[in-house]
Amino acid sequence: MPTQRKILVTSALPYANGPIHLGHLLEYIQTDIWTRFQNSRGNQCTYVCADDAHGTAIMLRAEQEGITSQQLIDRVRTEHHQDFQGFHVHFDNYYSTHSDENRYFSELIYTRLRDKGHIATREIEQMYDPEKGLFLADRFIKGTCPKCKAEDQYGDNCEKCGATYTPAELIDPRSAISGATPVMKTSEHYFFKLQDFADFLQNWTQTGRLQEQIANKLKEWLEAGLQEWDISRDAPYFGFEIPDAPGKYFYVWLDAPIGYLASFKNLCDQRDDLNFDDYWKPGSENEVYHFIGKDIVNFHALFWPAMLSGADFRTPNSVYCHGFLTVNGAKMSKSRGTFIKASTYLDHLNPEYLRYYFAAKLTSRVDDLDLNLEDFVFRVNSDLVGKLVNIASRCAGFVKKAGGTLSEMKEPELYQRFVEAGDAIAADYERREYGRAVRQIMDLADEANTWINDQAPWVLAKEEGKEAEVQAICSTGINLFRVLMTYLAPVLPEMAGKTLDFLKIDNLDWEARSQPLVNHEIAKFKPMINRVDNDKIEALLDASREDAKKEMALKEASVSSNPGGEPAADANSPLQAEPLADEITFDDFIKVDLRVARIIKCEHVEKANKLLKLTLDLGGETRTVFSGIKKAYQPEDLEGKLTVMVANLAPRKMKFGLSEGMVLAAGDDDGIYLLEPHSGAQPGMRVV
Ligand code: MSP
Ligand code: ZN
Repeated sequence: MPTQRKILVTSALPYANGPIHLGHLLEYIQTDIWTRFQNSRGNQCTYVCADDAHGTAIMLRAEQEGITSQQLIDRVRTEHHQDFQGFHVHFDNYYSTHSDENRYFSELIYTRLRDKGHIATREIEQMYDPEKGLFLADRFIKGTCPKCKAEDQYGDNCEKCGATYTPAELIDPRSAISGATPVMKTSEHYFFKLQDFADFLQNWTQTGRLQEQIANKLKEWLEAGLQEWDISRDAPYFGFEIPDAPGKYFYVWLDAPIGYLASFKNLCDQRDDLNFDDYWKPGSENEVYHFIGKDIVNFHALFWPAMLSGADFRTPNSVYCHGFLTVNGAKMSKSRGTFIKASTYLDHLNPEYLRYYFAAKLTSRVDDLDLNLEDFVFRVNSDLVGKLVNIASRCAGFVKKAGGTLSEMKEPELYQRFVEAGDAIAADYERREYGRAVRQIMDLADEANTWINDQAPWVLAKEEGKEAEVQAICSTGINLFRVLMTYLAPVLPEMAGKTLDFLKIDNLDWEARSQPLVNHEIAKFKPMINRVDNDKIEALLDASREDAKKEMALKEASVSSNPGGEPAADANSPLQAEPLADEITFDDFIKVDLRVARIIKCEHVEKANKLLKLTLDLGGETRTVFSGIKKAYQPEDLEGKLTVMVANLAPRKMKFGLSEGMVLAAGDDDGIYLLEPHSGAQPGMRVV
């Protein structure tokens, strides 16, 4: 027996302000497979995680929903729990960064760093939203790019021309939260002096512990020079107050990775067989690995090891970084329905399809992984149903007919080869080459099926006196199936559970495979998994589009309760919401009274960032309409032009006056284009 390794693994802590989606699941499934594999091998692998509950984004999201931050994180925790359970992601502990343990360790690490002189303080100038009373992070500021003059760009970089700058350089900056014009304000901030750890990090990142792609990236960063890291935020902030600094809070990314320690500590307090110091004191022989996505490498491979080492904790053995999930070759999209929430997926499809598909495509590298839905259906059906389950289903009936007990195998050598293949497969799991492991397993499945075909027990079964041979063939087949399920159990825990019932055994541990089941009774065969139904994929995409619409509605509701008229920021939403609409009847449509209107006057609105004030002639009647088209037009260019307006829209009271209708314009992130009828149309004409 090899010695038992003691391993602690973590996945990144998901933010507590939104649902788990398939992109997240790539990581949790990757980690869960590794954990299950390690435990199957007889190691003690403990998997902890938590919700990342702090920060401005959570505060704002709670506000948007009209609840407290605490209520939000409590609710999201329950939702995350269900999602993970639904996908068979098994944590030994799932905690929260908003916990006593996390406060304790955050304060401990901070004070140790401070007492060793690794904390600096100085005043910094920052943009401040005077309406909200909030300092604004760069992504909460929008304005015109100082380089290319593209409008509506974030405070730190321009999506159009790629320029990077400080928010102070933006032309016409405004708060993405309230729309107010930010002012500069100074405040004292606390910094972690990362430069103190330059030599340590040089060594830590460049001595074979990290993936090559990651080590190279870090080398570049180290060569560019390390800078102090700002770890404080001013009140109001949802987080932990810094011990010696009233009104100052730890930046969410300071206490987030400490959440790994907190979650593990919380577990150790419930378990006699786990001791916190055995894992976290310097020099510990136990192993620690963090699974993360490629977007958060700096936090895990620079700040985190430096913090740990500066505060006298051990550092992780490695940080395992994966790429991003795309769906059908593109970033997940709300309008295409490919931004898929975990819970929506579970309403339509079996979680093990996705676990298998991810496993089949995962490597140890940082490359992105594409979920191609056509390929997904094909692979799952052909591999899991057509190959794997097929082995059991075609053999089980004959065994059952002969009394339901497995006999000696017809070909023990074949079985032996399947057992031996396990070493290479295990090596691939160990280094996170799941795709390679799955390919080998499916090659074996092909081999098993070919062998059974050649033996043709269904032909022999019709001959006289061949009962024992049929039984020996099918007993071989069932035993081969058991070995394959042993290899796939880390990927397919639910199928593995059903296999235990079928084979009447109590585990599928890796080592147990060397002993075949002989003279062993099995149960009646029931298929462990069904084919993917193509219609379900369509239904899933439709439902995901519906989800996106609901999310949009929430955003709009929060805009209308925000009389500034600027959309509230949803900082963590990885995607811009795209407009979607339900089908309507002609009767619905005809309720909208569209009329040709002439713009007789067009003016700037003082202090409004987006709006122009239009005076419209509707063929005798005049209307005032505020329209968010400022970025596209100079007022004088519009005067005299015809356009189309919604004439029967209930008047809306806005911050700048009453808006009596709406003009129609096409638009997206790239521009706004007012609709204009062909010449000949007259003000007041109905548009249908
Ligand atoms: N809260 C931080 C992590 C703190 S860890 C101390 C965070 N949260 S997150 O919810 O945005 O992301 C959680 C994990 O999911 C990250 O590792 C992130 O890389 C991963 N993914 C989020 N979207 C993803 C994809 N589309 N594809 C693959 N992984 C993705 O970051
Ligand atoms: Zn630009």
